[in-house]
Amino acid sequence: MPETHLPGGFVNAVVRVGDTVRRTPAQRSAFVHELLGLFERRGWPGAPRFHGFDERGREILGFVAGHVAWEEAQPDGVTSDASLARAAELVREFHDLTAGTPLAGAEEVVCHNDLSPRNTVYRDADGEGLRPVAFIDWDLATPGRRIHDVAHVCWQYAGLGPGATDAPRRVRLICDAYGLADRGGVVAAILWWQDRCRRGIEADAAAGLPHAVRLRAAGAVEQVGAAHDWVAAHRADLERALL
Ligand SMILES: Nc1ncnc2c1ncn2[C@@H]1O[C@H](COP(=O)(O)OP(=O)(O)O)[C@@H](O)[C@H]1O
Ligand SMILES: [Mg+2]
Repeated sequence: MPETHLPGGFVNAVVRVGDTVRRTPAQRSAFVHELLGLFERRGWPGAPRFHGFDERGREILGFVAGHVAWEEAQPDGVTSDASLARAAELVREFHDLTAGTPLAGAEEVVCHNDLSPRNTVYRDADGEGLRPVAFIDWDLATPGRRIHDVAHVCWQYAGLGPGATDAPRRVRLICDAYGLADRGGVVAAILWWQDRCRRGIEADAAAGLPHAVRLRAAGAVEQVGAAHDWVAAHRADLERALL
């Protein structure tokens, strides 16, 4: 069966073969495969199914049909309030599914740790526009705190940084849709993510990791730095909206 390259990845060469996707397994892929197995057993449709390995040692995942929002410009449906809210609800669903399981260990839940529109599949199921239906790219999933994923969603889906529109209201909308009880640490967690991401790209690029070298060459360090400075400068407004 022919292999077609799938665009939009930053780390892995991902190809489609029929109804499946083939990907190089990540370092911690055993954990990820257990997690995808848990989602399958619980019948949760928000993640690809794991189907084992192919003859070349690549992981075989179910292809999730739809629109992956990896490009800069996106249709209105992707950026709509309804899609923001639905993304937050989907996060709540898998957090609740993993809470109290051995995979979460001593932590609250299992976090995806890389939630963003470019790792989200959108579909227009009812003619109202594209809405998130599943998250892909679970390579970085670990036990963690709910607020960490929620903060990442605020950063990535509300596009926090220079040029962000309506940010305080949209951050509140995400936290409301998730049902996050304690929001006191959300903005601090966003700043923590941005700082960690910038340092990560710098360190990985310095170590010669190809994806990080590409990101650095494309200006990602400056871009994340600018987003961090923007959130720091708007911290009071954002925190007031979350009271
Ligand atoms: N299970 C899947 N179903 C549909 N498309 C997928 C799936 N997994 C990956 N893709 C496509 O491949 C691209 C890269 O995959 P991803 O897992 O995000 O790789 P990377 O780790 O390099 O970011 C995605 O942008 C998406 O278009
Ligand atoms: Mg990805």
